[in-house]
Amino acid sequence: MPVILIGFMGTGKSTVGRLLAESMNQSFCDLDELIEKEAGMTIPTYFDTYGEQVFRQLEQDLLKKAIDEYDILSTGGGTPTISANQKVIQAAMGRTIKLDAPIDEIRARIGDDMNRPIFKKLSQQAFNELKEKRDAIYTKFCDVIIDTSQKNPREIVAEIKALI
Ligand code: S3P
Repeated sequence: MPVILIGFMGTGKSTVGRLLAESMNQSFCDLDELIEKEAGMTIPTYFDTYGEQVFRQLEQDLLKKAIDEYDILSTGGGTPTISANQKVIQAAMGRTIKLDAPIDEIRARIGDDMNRPIFKKLSQQAFNELKEKRDAIYTKFCDVIIDTSQKNPREIVAEIKALI
């Protein structure tokens, strides 16, 4: 039964997923990392070269593979917003955990990280609106919501372990 971490960019999915897997002695996959490995390039370069639509197709193909092969999976912020991906996540019958944080904290965490093409291209208002829109989707698809605000990754991991 896989544990699938979902949530907006900057909510700590990769850090928390890795730490959770380590502490449970389970296998871990970061979907963004898997995409970069398969593509042989970074996600921003992939976006620039092929565009978001092609990225989403690769993401969809690798999501299925990752869910089949790993115990704990951290997804990209856009992954659960695609209906084909929602079906794959639901069919996995695992525990889907939404990590959340207030938008200001997310901004502070992301800083000027230009490794995130979606963040890079959006105005402040459009970014805020995207979070709101996606949050509703994450909430609908998750079993548990964890507020990561003002907590360190170890505290978040302890909270997740108490709930799964
Ligand atoms: C994306 C988020 C990124 C990555 C890609 C697209 C998005 O992952 O998958 O840049 O659509 O929000 P993180 O959530 O790990 O930043």
